[in-house]
Amino acid sequence: MSVHSNLTIIDHPVIAAHITRLRDKTTPTAEFRGGVRALGRLMAYELLRDAKTRRVTVQTPLEMAYGIRLKTQPAFISIMRAGNGMIDGMLDLWPEAVAGNIGLYRNEETLQPVEYYRSLPPELPERRVILADPMLATGGTAVAAATMLRDAGATNLHFACLFAAPEGTQAFADAHPDIPVTACALDRELNNKGYILPGLGDAGDRQYGTI
Ligand code: URA
Repeated sequence: MSVHSNLTIIDHPVIAAHITRLRDKTTPTAEFRGGVRALGRLMAYELLRDAKTRRVTVQTPLEMAYGIRLKTQPAFISIMRAGNGMIDGMLDLWPEAVAGNIGLYRNEETLQPVEYYRSLPPELPERRVILADPMLATGGTAVAAATMLRDAGATNLHFACLFAAPEGTQAFADAHPDIPVTACALDRELNNKGYILPGLGDAGDRQYGTI
């Protein structure tokens, strides 16, 4: 399966070490949740690297200095519930951001994602919008959530995940070829239940201890 060129894997030893700890089934819940949060923080740092800025002047105790501020505050959107830990970390990095939540479940007959919750910040068209879900597995949920954000006016949209499967990467690229996807790891494949291999199991259960 070809993996679309819109996928970027962040190559960094600190990220890889966090990912390894998340994979390890003996990692306790609190440490796991902390790892997801740390990765959210590191990913936001990367994903805001080219955020639009405006020049400002500030007065230091000694003299005037030039500096920058972000032109608009970014929006971090979680696909509930597994994305929540990631956007907690993103908000650690940039607390002035705004945040939103999207809830989707899969209809077991049609296999289509169905919306059960939506809370989105205002002015999405003006913002860098980062949609977060730890696992890009089949891609169904990510595609539906990105479509919702598009319909709500987001144009500067990025999808952030911790683990990407080739199947989900392809499905997302087919549906949203212009939305960049950033991941910390590209894994091998999905199993017959839609779990990423080798992956980390269920990202929501492992963050919240709900096995
Ligand atoms: N969701 C998860 O939590 N884990 C997977 O491996 C795939 C989807």
